[in-house]
Amino acid sequence: MSELFSPLAIRSMTLPNRLVLPAMVTRLSGEDGLVNEDIRARYTRFSKGGVGLVVLEAMAVHSAKSGPLLRISSDEFAPGLSDLAKRCHAAGPGMVVPQIIHFLKISRSGWRQTVDMLSLADIDAIVDAYGEAAARARRCGFDGVELHMAHAYTLSSFLSALNPRKDDYGGSLENRLRLPLRVVERVRREIGLDFPLGVRFLGDECIRNGYTTVDAALIAVRLARAGVDYISLSAGGKFEDARVIPGEPLYPYTGYSGDRCMPGNQYPDGANLYIPRAVRAALREAGLETPVIAVGKIGTKALAEDVLASGTGDLVGMARALLADPDLPNKWKDNREDRVVRCIYGNVCKSLDENFRRVDCTLWPKKLGQAPESHDEIPPKWAENGSRIHAEYRHGAVLVRWEKATDNEAVYGYQVFRSKKAGVLVHHASVRGVSARYEDSRVLGGESYTYAVRPYDLAGNRGPMSESITVDVPG
Ligand SMILES: Cc1cc2nc3c(=O)[nH]c(=O)nc-3n(C[C@H](O)[C@H](O)[C@H](O)COP(=O)(O)O)c2cc1C
Ligand code: SF4
Repeated sequence: MSELFSPLAIRSMTLPNRLVLPAMVTRLSGEDGLVNEDIRARYTRFSKGGVGLVVLEAMAVHSAKSGPLLRISSDEFAPGLSDLAKRCHAAGPGMVVPQIIHFLKISRSGWRQTVDMLSLADIDAIVDAYGEAAARARRCGFDGVELHMAHAYTLSSFLSALNPRKDDYGGSLENRLRLPLRVVERVRREIGLDFPLGVRFLGDECIRNGYTTVDAALIAVRLARAGVDYISLSAGGKFEDARVIPGEPLYPYTGYSGDRCMPGNQYPDGANLYIPRAVRAALREAGLETPVIAVGKIGTKALAEDVLASGTGDLVGMARALLADPDLPNKWKDNREDRVVRCIYGNVCKSLDENFRRVDCTLWPKKLGQAPESHDEIPPKWAENGSRIHAEYRHGAVLVRWEKATDNEAVYGYQVFRSKKAGVLVHHASVRGVSARYEDSRVLGGESYTYAVRPYDLAGNRGPMSESITVDVPG
């Protein structure tokens, strides 16, 4: 059995496998912050797919105004959250922890509150809010709690190298750590010694003069020594380089650091793995065994296995890959990777989030609202006269087209395979079922490329490979 399916004990919880759904805002809750039917459907679907740890999307510890966002800021939210915990536990083997967040004020005028505007009383109130929310998480029946110290939010802004405070909460690294450590200490006091406490923070701020893995390694050691049970590492997602749109509040994922947070298809697979590699090595060197969650465009079983085998991480986080196919863990476990519906990293989900619209995957059939579920075993097929695949070089790209396949349920998409110089065909991209074309702009003059496509259905059954076609790109 793959190491990915070995259990891992984290304080009082034992994860059944090494696969983690990192927090992913869904915009499915209303501005009331309450758990609703859509939220229940989304998370039970993830649990059912077999993931070892479900981290529920960021939920607010305080009552500040925001767009649609879950809340855990008062007992009013507890019944919905308890029910969600129960349903996720019933749906699958994985553990469930909420990610809890504090954020500062922001307005459409372009103004935003920064950490240097907070009084000492405001800082004390943040500590209290985290403590109360974490205690509530425990009462709600979750298996642990994760503190959000990443991206553009309050605790991350204290950790940031750009923290502008001039007092004991800014300047030196120890000062930048002061509030995050106070929060850890208070939360631990509230939740007790047996309840797992995770922290998510940035391994690299990915902004000019921001901190990198050099500081992140020290932050991790300090947090682990303070009793944090797991460390989840993210990248970027900052206000400092966000796109300015007059009349709109700044959104922290619109600049380069936002790209680095959710690396799109222009980035190599495993784009952020240098982060957990460096941070985990620093923890081990300090004699700390704290598990590390590695994240960032990990979409294949081979890469996930390599994360563990190479000591890059102890757990493999996959946000978009699991959004595209929540059944991925069960499919990998059953050695059915060939049935996984692969994320194409086009980041439609990211832009939905940016625009405060419900976060669905572009691959899902329209209006379904959740990933499709099918146990059908009949694969799609090509028409009698085959796929009629055609490819030509035009305006700097190869355009590949084919006739649509058919399926007893529905063709969900096509995998595009490519080889160079008639070598082995490897998966190159996937396109949605409504399309029967793919434009490949990653071609070099003087090379020849061979293409073939394979249809897949809602259950992920792959149909037969099409005929192949070779194109010579002019030198
Ligand atoms: C739509 C969307 C919402 C996200 N919301 C959160 C969030 O609430 N908290 C968080 O820490 N990260 C959030 N992230 C970042 C992911 O957890 C993850 O770090 C990132 O997508 C990179 O991992 P991936 O390549 O496996 O998708 C979000 C990502 C996406 C795409
Ligand atoms: S919308 Fe695109 S990037 Fe997001 S999960 Fe779906 S395929 Fe992946």
